Amino acid sequence: MRSLRIRLFQKTDFVFADSLRALVGWNQTKNDWMRFLAHQPDGCFIAEWDGQPVGTATTTIYEDKVAWIGMVLVHPNAQRRGIGRALLEHCIAFLKPRVACIKLDATPLGKALYDTLGFRDEWTLKRWGTDHAELPATPMQYRVRRWQEGDHEAIQVLDADAFGVLRWPMMHRLTWQPSRALIHLTPKQRVSAFGVVRKGARAHYLGPVVANSIAAAGPLIKSLVLALPNERIFWDIPDANTGAVELAQRLGFQPQRPLIRMFLGENKWPGDPQRIFALAGPEIG
Ligand SMILES: CC(C)(COP(=O)(O)OP(=O)(O)OC[C@H]1O[C@@H](n2cnc3c(N)ncnc32)[C@H](O)[C@@H]1OP(=O)(O)O)[C@@H](O)C(=O)NCCC(=O)NCCS
Repeated sequence: MRSLRIRLFQKTDFVFADSLRALVGWNQTKNDWMRFLAHQPDGCFIAEWDGQPVGTATTTIYEDKVAWIGMVLVHPNAQRRGIGRALLEHCIAFLKPRVACIKLDATPLGKALYDTLGFRDEWTLKRWGTDHAELPATPMQYRVRRWQEGDHEAIQVLDADAFGVLRWPMMHRLTWQPSRALIHLTPKQRVSAFGVVRKGARAHYLGPVVANSIAAAGPLIKSLVLALPNERIFWDIPDANTGAVELAQRLGFQPQRPLIRMFLGENKWPGDPQRIFALAGPEIG
C-alpha cells in the first residue's frame, strides 16, 4: 500500500532538498536551506512517499503576525499525486494558530494549487535578470557604504515600515552567507536605503533592497551591481514599483518570469511595494 507522510526537515535532509532544488533549476543554495532551518526549525517539512523523500516546504514566521511559505517542491516523478497539496495543508495547519496572515510568492504552476486552498492575489511581481549589467563608465560618487553592526536599528525601522512587519532575524542571517550588504545615507547621515546581494546557485541574487525613494535606492543598487561585472544577476521587483522597474531596464535587465504575491487570512500588515525595490526572495518575502 502506497503511503504519504509529512515530517520535520532534519539536517540529514539537506542533500535531498538541495538536489531537488537543483533539479527544478531554482537559485537557492545550501546556505538558504540552513537559514530556513535556523529561523524555523519546527516549520520546515519533508514529504515522504513509501518512505522516500519526494518533496519539501518551508515556513518563516515574522513577529508572530505574518508567515511565508516557501520552497514548495515535489520531485517530477512524484507530481500529481496530491503531495504538493498535502505539504501546503501541513504548512497551513502549522501556521494558522501562530499568525493572522500567511503569504507566499507563487509561480504560475504553484498558483493553480494555492487558488484551491483559498489564497487570494495581492500584487504581481517579476523576476528580472541580466548576464551583463550596463553601468556608467565614469566613477560614481554615492553616499553608500558597507552595512555595519551600528546600522541595525535604523535598518530594522526602515524595513519594518516598508515590509509591514519586522523580519530582522531573517535579514540579519542573510548577511551571514557570502554577500555584500550596503546602506545609503542622507546628507544628515540617516539610513535611507539598505540592500544585499548574495550568491545563488545559478546567479547572484539582488535583494532585499528597501528604501524610501528611488533617489536613495538607485545609487545603492548601482553600487551593488557595480561589483558584479559580466555576472548573471536575478532581481525580483514588484510591478507597482515603477522606479525600480525603470532602473532595471536602464541597467540592461530583462524580464524572466512572472510571480504573484498571495495571502491567506487577514492581510493586516500589507507593507508598501513602492518601498520594496527588491524582494528578499520569493521564498521569504
Ligand atoms: C507545484 C507543485 C509543487 C505541485 O505539486 P504536486 O504534488 O504535483 O501537486 P498535487 O498533486 O498536490 O496537485 C494539486 C493541484 O495542483 C495543480 N497542479 C499540480 N500540477 C499541475 C500542473 N502540472 N499543471 C496544472 N496544475 C497543476 C492542480 O490544481 C492540482 O489539482 P488536481 O489534484 O485537481 O489535479 C509541483 O508541480 C512542483 O514542484 N513544481 C515545480 C516547483 C514549483 O513551481 N513550485 C511552486 C512554487 S510557488
